[in-house]
Amino acid sequence: TPLDKIRNFSIIAHIDHGKSTLADRLIQRTGGLSEREMSAQVLDNMEIEKERGITIKAQTVRLEWKGHILNLMDTPGHVDFAYEVSRSLAACEGALLVVDAAQGVEAQTLANVYQSIEHDHEIIPVINKIDLPSAEPEKVKAEIEEIIGLDASNAVLSSAKSGIGIEEILDAIVERIPAPKGDIDAPLKAMLVDSWYDPYLGVVILLRVIDGSIRKGQQVKFMAAGTTHLVDRVGAFRPKLENLPDLGPGEIGFITAQIKEVAQARVGDTLTDAKRPAAEPLEGFKEVQPVVFCGLFPVDAADFEKLRESISKLRLNDASFSFEMETSAALGFGFRCGFLGLLHLEIIQERLMREYDLDLITTAPSVVYQIELTHGGGHIDLHNPADMPEPNKIETISEPWIQAVIYVPDEYLGSILKLCQDRRGIQKNLTYVGGRAQATYELPLNEVVFDFYDRLKSLSKGYASFDYEQIGYREGDLVKMGILVNEEPVDALSMIVHRSTAETRGRGMVERLKELIPRHMFKIPIQAAIGGKVIARETISALRKDVTAKCYGGDATRKRKLLDKQKKGKAKMREYGSVSIPQEAFIAALRMG
Ligand code: GTP
Repeated sequence: TPLDKIRNFSIIAHIDHGKSTLADRLIQRTGGLSEREMSAQVLDNMEIEKERGITIKAQTVRLEWKGHILNLMDTPGHVDFAYEVSRSLAACEGALLVVDAAQGVEAQTLANVYQSIEHDHEIIPVINKIDLPSAEPEKVKAEIEEIIGLDASNAVLSSAKSGIGIEEILDAIVERIPAPKGDIDAPLKAMLVDSWYDPYLGVVILLRVIDGSIRKGQQVKFMAAGTTHLVDRVGAFRPKLENLPDLGPGEIGFITAQIKEVAQARVGDTLTDAKRPAAEPLEGFKEVQPVVFCGLFPVDAADFEKLRESISKLRLNDASFSFEMETSAALGFGFRCGFLGLLHLEIIQERLMREYDLDLITTAPSVVYQIELTHGGGHIDLHNPADMPEPNKIETISEPWIQAVIYVPDEYLGSILKLCQDRRGIQKNLTYVGGRAQATYELPLNEVVFDFYDRLKSLSKGYASFDYEQIGYREGDLVKMGILVNEEPVDALSMIVHRSTAETRGRGMVERLKELIPRHMFKIPIQAAIGGKVIARETISALRKDVTAKCYGGDATRKRKLLDKQKKGKAKMREYGSVSIPQEAFIAALRMG
């Protein structure tokens, strides 16, 4: 395809503003699928994505419109997947910015818009859902100009639902988004935009060709990985898979090359011709690193092998999470896993529980701390609070910080500012846009990974939104807080906290555990401690009577039922010394309230 007949674009939109619906309409209008095939949203093709209404994996669709090839690149919609987003954007020359005509601009979209602007994209504002009675397109235009600084005078008004404005959008893509540049005679240079595992095809690699061309039978070299593979298939999705003879400069499509694991096909890598390689790889390759770690243990120790297999399978398809075996005195064998963020953690955890039918205990999520040891003892990246060295061996300990931008309607501002304050936030800026406040805070990531987002949403009745980026490590007065149940430490519940918040966190934790741990035949003390010093304590009083006592002489079936019920309850508990702790306690105790 000649360069001037190609347009590559992505869609930037806040969750629920209509990205998937609009993408489906564009596919439908350009003839990719029949009405019947449209019934299911095609871009969000994973079950969990659909349920949560978020896009996890990037996908791309090749559309044809008035003699042009339009490649629609779908981008993941969450901050956890920021690097994948950045590569998808780097593969495009333009973007549609979809804004809900009734909701207006949201903070999460801003980060992507700014990124898109940094990639020199031509941005076409699309004001969607104009069919809604509450639509205020003029107000939203003003917002786009005020908040983002984009000219919105030529924004396209659309209703993806009713099919209004679809052709105008397609025309605008052809007219306003620049054609890609590239040199067909230069050695092959293609950017690996995404990769995923397909049970039939093996690893599928989505790429954007910059220079040269790629075809079946070619030996290609992955410049960052240093490996060479034979290309056995070249094609594009329209959205159905279609084989193509080759892909030239400016084109977006996929290849397969007998690759077994996505870990071998890293997003951002440069593919070149093995025999006639490019001199330099493309800029911007980055190895993504997990930032949030937690332990995953099977509730039933017999499930360990099943957990290992399931995790390995998931990892085939997601190179961004890491895992290694971990043993815990209390929980037995499990895995220490690393994730790009809390949402990523939740997705993996949910898939393990749902798709693989596993009951899991998740230990307190933790960020990575940097520790300098005394007497030149060296440096540690601490992934697990259980491995924290003794205090006298620590010279300094540093934690990752983020900069968060929060948008919130004025009426909820007070409680949001208090939340940030309670989480050791440092206010950097506070401005008003329309009826909404925009607060910029620096916060320790550790204070955000637990339940910050949930709190933000509940304090603002769902209206607040936030976005963050990491800004580096800072030294802090951080200590390990342990939890003791019946005098025994429960390492899965130990966490690293700031000294100033330790007491509050500790008290909250023991209070919640008191509610969550059932009474036993004996008294159970629950303590939070730093080193040997107890900072909070609660006691669960002893149970007096045998539960079956009241059945004596009575109905035998009823008694058996009662015992069965107890047994079932037990299956979901772990024994700590002589104390049983229900599974829910682990997660619930970590919520800070
Ligand atoms: P994510 O995939 O979570 O990013 O969401 P999305 O932005 O793709 O939103 P989606 O297309 O799933 O639409 C969200 C909701 O808005 C759905 O219930 C759609 O039916 C609805 N919707 C989308 N476009 C329109 C529109 O033009 N008008 C109206 N009234 N509703 C729309």
